[in-house]
Amino acid sequence: MDLKSKIRVIEDFPHEGISFKDITTLMQDGVAFKEAIKQMAEPFKGQHVDVVVGPEARGFLIGTPLAYELTSGFAPVRKSGKLPYEVVEANYELEYGKDTLQIHKDAIRPGDKVIVADDLLATGGTVKSTVDLVEELGGEVIGVTFLIELTYLNGKDKLTGYDINSLIKY
Ligand code: PRP
Repeated sequence: MDLKSKIRVIEDFPHEGISFKDITTLMQDGVAFKEAIKQMAEPFKGQHVDVVVGPEARGFLIGTPLAYELTSGFAPVRKSGKLPYEVVEANYELEYGKDTLQIHKDAIRPGDKVIVADDLLATGGTVKSTVDLVEELGGEVIGVTFLIELTYLNGKDKLTGYDINSLIKY
């Protein structure tokens, strides 16, 4: 199946010069959505995965079905002030703006095998902060996976040494 054809590209959203990759059109198609998650899970089949970690908000859309497919737990990374329990936090820059990400202190146990999942790799700032939070809690990041990678932004450079996968490339 041509999953790339299911992504809707909106130019100059939310700012001029940004070519927004809209995954809602892929998710609207149940067969395409299932196929995308199945393909994202493929490299990790047969490996023990304790937790998939996904950053707010679109990382939840990809991370939770991936966790379900892998029979692992899921832990959310959220923007500042959203999580109710004790947190650790990291500041990050994204393609357009800056923010703080947080994770519950007990979301990862030392030694947990963790996959970090998101819809999109752009500059890599979001996912690098997410990886840092997992490692601060003693988790082992065994893979980093994206539905979409914007290769021209070189986000992979922030993730040297990690096993990185992406299904759809621009
Ligand atoms: C988008 C996207 C990734 C991130 C990628 O999220 O879902 O998480 O940006 O950019 P980066 O690689 O340059 O960090 P956004 O922060 O817009 O939040 P949202 O998922 O809540 O829309």
